[in-house]
Amino acid sequence: MSSANSHGQQKHTCVVGMGWGDEGKGKIVDLLAGDFDVVIRFNGGANAGHTVRIGDDAFALHLLPSGVLREQAVSVIGPGVVVDPAGLVEEMVGLESRGIDLTGRLLISDRAHLVMPYHKLEDRLRDSGSQGKKIGTTAKGIGPCYAEKMLRSSAFRMVDLVHLDRNTDRLRSVCQRKRSILESMGAEEASLNDEALTFDGTLSMLQSVRKKLAGHVRDTTTWLEHSVREGRNLLFESANGMLLDIDHGTFPYVTASHTGLNGVPSGAGVSPHLVRRCVGVSKAYATRVGNGPFPSELHDERGDRIREVGREYGTTTGRPRRCGWLDAVTLRRSVVLGGVTEIAMMHMDTLSGLPEVGICTGYRLRGQLIGSIPADSDDLEAVEPVFELVAGWQEDVSHVRRFEDLPVQARSYIHRVEKLVGATISMVSVGPERNQTIHRSR
Ligand code: IMP
Repeated sequence: MSSANSHGQQKHTCVVGMGWGDEGKGKIVDLLAGDFDVVIRFNGGANAGHTVRIGDDAFALHLLPSGVLREQAVSVIGPGVVVDPAGLVEEMVGLESRGIDLTGRLLISDRAHLVMPYHKLEDRLRDSGSQGKKIGTTAKGIGPCYAEKMLRSSAFRMVDLVHLDRNTDRLRSVCQRKRSILESMGAEEASLNDEALTFDGTLSMLQSVRKKLAGHVRDTTTWLEHSVREGRNLLFESANGMLLDIDHGTFPYVTASHTGLNGVPSGAGVSPHLVRRCVGVSKAYATRVGNGPFPSELHDERGDRIREVGREYGTTTGRPRRCGWLDAVTLRRSVVLGGVTEIAMMHMDTLSGLPEVGICTGYRLRGQLIGSIPADSDDLEAVEPVFELVAGWQEDVSHVRRFEDLPVQARSYIHRVEKLVGATISMVSVGPERNQTIHRSR
């Protein structure tokens, strides 16, 4: 057990995304997880997509914490996660078929909510654009499941899956009610008659996944409390990113959960005083998938180049990501609201070869410099970015392992970003592999 640091204190840590997701959290969690006993997911669901590369193998994880690939660590899916039970089983079976044994290493909170088949259809119908602003969701049923949780009486949790017999009548009536709601939202006959969406189909899916999942379900809050008392170190893994936070992101183009350190206490079920270290993950540039304002977006060949070199295509949906310069305004906001104490800067290698690299340092709205991020998404859409252009670096940096060995322009860029956002960049990633990482504190 990796119990404490040299001061005898536990080193519980949280890893959060500082942008609109896809920052590379999976790599950082996997990298840090070697020093931790427990890795906990606390928000979101299968909307997240974490790719972890180990040698020639690439693992795409959606619901399982990235720590599952570290044998010494127990993985926990916390009460704040919304779990698509069939998707989770598929992921578990996929890993097991590649020799990764999850026995005794995966715990799922009995309080975590279930994403049901009707949530996914509802997500698709709601986000068709005919019911208001089109968010461009991942269609994984995340928003409808969290909304159901708030409605309470019609929601199902992991504990209900374990006690499925006690919940069958309620499931029947919820499925019936959902059918008429979906019909009124314009669902096509074919979707409504899809076996997977009927009460029988839903029940039989739940019966089948129950066999695989029930043994992993427990009161993870009590388990984590014991773990802390026994000196185990906990690593909390956020999904999505701070700019997608339901309260602090670019609403309404956000996800439905708390994505920073603010989400940890309730989403993981631990004391609000537990975590002191929070690693914020940001790319050396910015990306976004789905709709919504993106002030520093590049609409020219520089954005296309970043997309191709950085392989910026969604892990969950395969959609091309929108690309732009790093935005110091939103990053600074994420430092504060995300509780970020240090930054891991990803994809430094992707920017190699550009004559100049830009940083967005402010916004102008209708010609006026503004000192804040507008709440109104139409205003945020309308802001003009103020860019500072700095010299780029031409060398391939993917083999660099020490900060001093980075080209001077790359080091200056990092120093400039630190100054603008008010946090130290402690790790710099120069490629997808675990060892392609520069640790500045070493
Ligand atoms: P939802 O979370 O599926 O409801 O999607 C809401 C918005 O968040 C959409 O713009 C998605 O593309 C975006 N989103 C949600 N999760 C992620 C993620 O892990 N990476 C990138 N974008 C995400």
